[in-house]
Amino acid sequence: MKKKLWSGRFSESTNKLVDNFTASIPFDWKLYKYDIAGSIAHARMLAKTGIIKKAEADKIVNGLRTVEKEIGFGKFKFSVEDEDIHMAVEKRLISLIGDTGKKLHTAKSRNDQVALDIRLYLRDEIKNIISLIDEFHKTLVTLAKKNIDVIMPGYTHLQQAQPILFSHYLLAYYEMFKRDKDRLLDCYKRANIMPLGSGALAGTTFPIDRGYIARLLGFDDVTKNSLDAVSDRDFIIEFLSAASIMIMHLSRMSEELVIWSSSEFGFIELPDAFCTGSSMMPQKKNPDVPELVRGKTGRIYGHLFSLLVTMKGLPLAYNKDMQEDKEPLFDTVDTIKASLEIFSEMIKGLKLDKKRIESSMADGLILATDVADYLVQKGVPFRSSHEIVGRIVGYCLKEKKALTSLTLSEWKRFSPDFKEDILNFASLEKAVERRNHIGGTAKIQVLKRIREIL
Ligand code: ARG
Repeated sequence: MKKKLWSGRFSESTNKLVDNFTASIPFDWKLYKYDIAGSIAHARMLAKTGIIKKAEADKIVNGLRTVEKEIGFGKFKFSVEDEDIHMAVEKRLISLIGDTGKKLHTAKSRNDQVALDIRLYLRDEIKNIISLIDEFHKTLVTLAKKNIDVIMPGYTHLQQAQPILFSHYLLAYYEMFKRDKDRLLDCYKRANIMPLGSGALAGTTFPIDRGYIARLLGFDDVTKNSLDAVSDRDFIIEFLSAASIMIMHLSRMSEELVIWSSSEFGFIELPDAFCTGSSMMPQKKNPDVPELVRGKTGRIYGHLFSLLVTMKGLPLAYNKDMQEDKEPLFDTVDTIKASLEIFSEMIKGLKLDKKRIESSMADGLILATDVADYLVQKGVPFRSSHEIVGRIVGYCLKEKKALTSLTLSEWKRFSPDFKEDILNFASLEKAVERRNHIGGTAKIQVLKRIREIL
């Protein structure tokens, strides 16, 4: 019978099916660095409080460092019989340093250990994701600066609505990702609390020093209830929801890139290096990257839901169900990082077809709101001016005339309040410039926002 670290009360060895079914080592090996860092801090604390001797702690720490190297160099053979990364490391430690290694698990349970490991992992990954957001932000702002004079149609209902600066559009995403970053920073605060010392669920009978471990590992505080600490996965759920919102933002931008790069729109061209061809249709240049980012949104939402559902019926404290937290978390981290990284790179090479963009607004109807506002300035109540301009739009459509090509007498046919100045009132540039207030699309405002950001 192969001996498990917990096999004392068992008289049969574990069924192979159970080993395979219950093991988390195929995925939680990823936590090895954090697991070892946590155990090193724990061993130091055991020595500091006199629970084990200083020399024993040193031996344990050295042993753990050896195990870390073995795993890092790919020399470590993981096996499902070890169940999870915590047992795999501990077992190897014992085989390396003998009986002293058996003291490491004093005043510790895998329940508080796994909570610690995930918190350490998530702290690091939140930082990594935030630097990718910073990178993406830089790209957006650089593009916005470079294209500050490009006017494009702004949409509602995907119908042309009012002209905006392309840079204003880009900075809309800047704001979204700024909130995403804030959400992550907030999530970080709650992840950065140290759970070790909670034991299996009730705490431990040993005179531990939890604050010391927290300081060694750079945590802001220690958890305040052992039951809560071993059964809390809120911080992962928070992260998954922040990630869901973030990929939703990337997905919306993806959708725009896909639509705008179609031949029907032709507003933008994605760099060749970020597109793929068709095995059958020689003319094709497919926007696979934004499509796939849009596609990956589904799996991140799925991960959020999967953990919410896993947790909803669990009695306190730890339950094995909770082992199902890891794959959704790991996959979300990997997916969001890959998506952010490739997105930043891809949009760096975005090309705009200014002529196509401009000609899409050639009928001038996108300026209808401005004309209505013009009449308001001349004293016409907005509801009436809206009605009048509606009729002008109908006339333009019927006569196939551009709104910007009407003569003064044509304007006057609809309202005596149109004066000479209407003739150079309705232009894309002016429409943009007139929206000159905080949050508006006027160039001055967009440039101001760019300066604030920089
Ligand atoms: N592999 C387990 C997990 O990921 C670690 C905690 C196991 N605890 C236990 N009592 N079986 O959740």
